[in-house]
Amino acid sequence: MNQTIAFIGGGNMAGALIHGLIEDGVDPGRILVSEPDAGRREQLAARFGARTTEDNTTAAGEAQILVLAVKPQVLPKVARALAPALAQSRPLCISIAAGIRHAALQRWLGEEVALVRAMPNTPAMLQAGATGLYAPPTLSEEHRQAAEHVLRAVGVVVWVEEEALMDAVTAVSGSGPAYFFLFMEAMEAAAVKLGLSPETARLLVRQTAQGATRMALESELDLPDLRRGVTSPGGTTERAVAAFEEGGLRNLVEKALTAAENRSRELSAELEAE
Ligand SMILES: NC(=O)c1ccc[n+]([C@@H]2O[C@H](COP(=O)([O-])OP(=O)(O)OC[C@H]3O[C@@H](n4cnc5c(N)ncnc54)[C@H](OP(=O)(O)O)[C@@H]3O)[C@@H](O)[C@H]2O)c1
Repeated sequence: MNQTIAFIGGGNMAGALIHGLIEDGVDPGRILVSEPDAGRREQLAARFGARTTEDNTTAAGEAQILVLAVKPQVLPKVARALAPALAQSRPLCISIAAGIRHAALQRWLGEEVALVRAMPNTPAMLQAGATGLYAPPTLSEEHRQAAEHVLRAVGVVVWVEEEALMDAVTAVSGSGPAYFFLFMEAMEAAAVKLGLSPETARLLVRQTAQGATRMALESELDLPDLRRGVTSPGGTTERAVAAFEEGGLRNLVEKALTAAENRSRELSAELEAE
């Protein structure tokens, strides 16, 4: 890709994306980061060889792809200030800000701006992310591919047809890493209660999570079959699985994801109130 990709905000997510893009073969000279913090700018330049600026308008003016990577709370102000520059330079804008919907962004950035909304997750830091993307049907195929290229640098991407489904993506993959951390936390605590040392519990639980995840991703079997593969009749796994089912694990998971989806909707309304 020989387009200039600029980032507004050079924080954690921008760092993950820049790392992924460079790993993917993007020339660091093609990456420009606008970031107010001088120390952070120096770090980004030293770590990636990316160009930096403290002026968002300069970044917007040079970019063919502009990634909005500031916190959602500051985005309304930042986006409105970018609008005049974007009306001239017309880059593809990709917002990774949680919760802020397409229509609000479009209103702030200018109605003519080509815009994709993305919802990545923290494993993006390891290039193992999962990102949901949304754009209206009017967005060109070329712009869709460009947005996919940027987010694919840090993991898998899926497009959703309706923006309302971004709340589901947020509930599943956006917040999802925390659910798996919580389950591992509970397993580690239980393992210690069974007499294992914390170090042994930590290693066994995390390696088991990694092994199970790899099997789930790499096997052709579906999840119930993979589970049955570990579950002998009358055995230990059967007892544990029965305890989970009796405890209402499936309902609990549904309730948790629904709560996250509802909160995502509420947050959109709060964040867009400006
Ligand atoms: N981290 C995640 O798991 C995750 C997942 C999905 C989506 N996201 C989204 O990604 C976005 C960035 O999150 P993050 O975790 O990377 O946050 P972050 O580390 O705080 O990065 C935001 C960066 O933007 C800079 N900034 C603040 N005001 C600015 C301005 N006016 N112009 C340019 N840059 C400015 C901040 O600098 P200062 O620190 O000096 O203020 C900071 O370096 C958020 O919108 C978030 O919703 C994050």
